[in-house]
Amino acid sequence: MKTRFTELVGVEHPIVQGGMQWVGRAELVAAVANAGALGFITALTQPTPEGLFNEMVRCRGMTNKPFGVNLTILPAIKQPPYAEYRQAIIESGVKVVETAGNKPQEHVTEFKKYGIKVLHKCTSVRHALSAERMGVDAISIDGFECAGHPGEDDTPGLILIPVAADKLKIPMIASGGFGDGRGLVAALALGAEGINMGTRFMCTKENPIHQLIKEKIVANDERETELIFRTMRNTSRVAKNAISNKVVTMEKQGATFDQVRDLVAGVRGKMVYATGDADQGIWSAGQVQGLIHDIPTCAELVSRIVREAETIIRNRLKGMMSGATRGTADKRLSKAEEIAS
Ligand SMILES: Cc1cc2nc3c(=O)[nH]c(=O)nc-3n(C[C@H](O)[C@H](O)[C@H](O)COP(=O)(O)O)c2cc1C
Repeated sequence: MKTRFTELVGVEHPIVQGGMQWVGRAELVAAVANAGALGFITALTQPTPEGLFNEMVRCRGMTNKPFGVNLTILPAIKQPPYAEYRQAIIESGVKVVETAGNKPQEHVTEFKKYGIKVLHKCTSVRHALSAERMGVDAISIDGFECAGHPGEDDTPGLILIPVAADKLKIPMIASGGFGDGRGLVAALALGAEGINMGTRFMCTKENPIHQLIKEKIVANDERETELIFRTMRNTSRVAKNAISNKVVTMEKQGATFDQVRDLVAGVRGKMVYATGDADQGIWSAGQVQGLIHDIPTCAELVSRIVREAETIIRNRLKGMMSGATRGTADKRLSKAEEIAS
């Protein structure tokens, strides 16, 4: 499948593995790249800019296909040294960056100076248009279904994607709730040039998280997520568990961030992936869990999605077209053809 997005970033398939904190490491990203899709190493998963540089070198050692780096800019108590992470990305020679979060202008301007393609991920049309004005090359638009930060507008992909497609000039990929070929075809039909997936890539053989968490995602259905930080207008969609329940209850009772801080600490979330204990902390997962039933390799997953999408387009949709247009004139034509033969 060739789209404006595959042409822009030079990959075979219009499928992206978005940045994932504690998860977007070299093994996964290289496997995604080798499968012909575009993976992003998550910059802030590495404790230092130097660590990030080494991770990119490690990834390059495992693939000669394109891959990128995700730089997430979120409000934090202790700001990471963003400019230094950015410099490490530039020096690594990586040619695609996914920015996410607040006010990416400074980073966009710098990356563009070095010919790096910037894909900005956001959750509203107004932020997508603002990023377009900032000079990004493509948009990844995250619907309300997504894992991680869905924003505060609660607009699902079915509306967000076509509204954004109507207004943007640059290519856009659709994100949030995608996990199979049906989703890819739907995204293309809605005006996107590809799909971005997080949760689905959690359940792949090469993903570095604990096997028990992958199995938990397979067992979960589409209702097993919870929205935390709603009251703080910093909503995050996470896997439903004992901790997310507690946080939501405390929020309803008026708790401040300081009161839930220990429960939501990033180190606890990191431990979930290391130990396989799903109740140890907060971890991100989307509603697409309801569509995830196995743990394939990245190559199996990507080729299955593409194959399924092609079959839907060639058989199901095309079949509907010929059926729908088989009017009287068509029938007369085929009768004439039959007689002629
Ligand atoms: C475990 C996990 C961690 C994530 N961490 C980040 C992150 O650090 N930065 C970011 O931009 N997006 C992050 N995301 C969001 C994904 O990149 C992607 O936009 C989202 O998962 C799409 O929704 P889906 O899970 O329904 O496919 C994360 C998602 C997951 C599942």
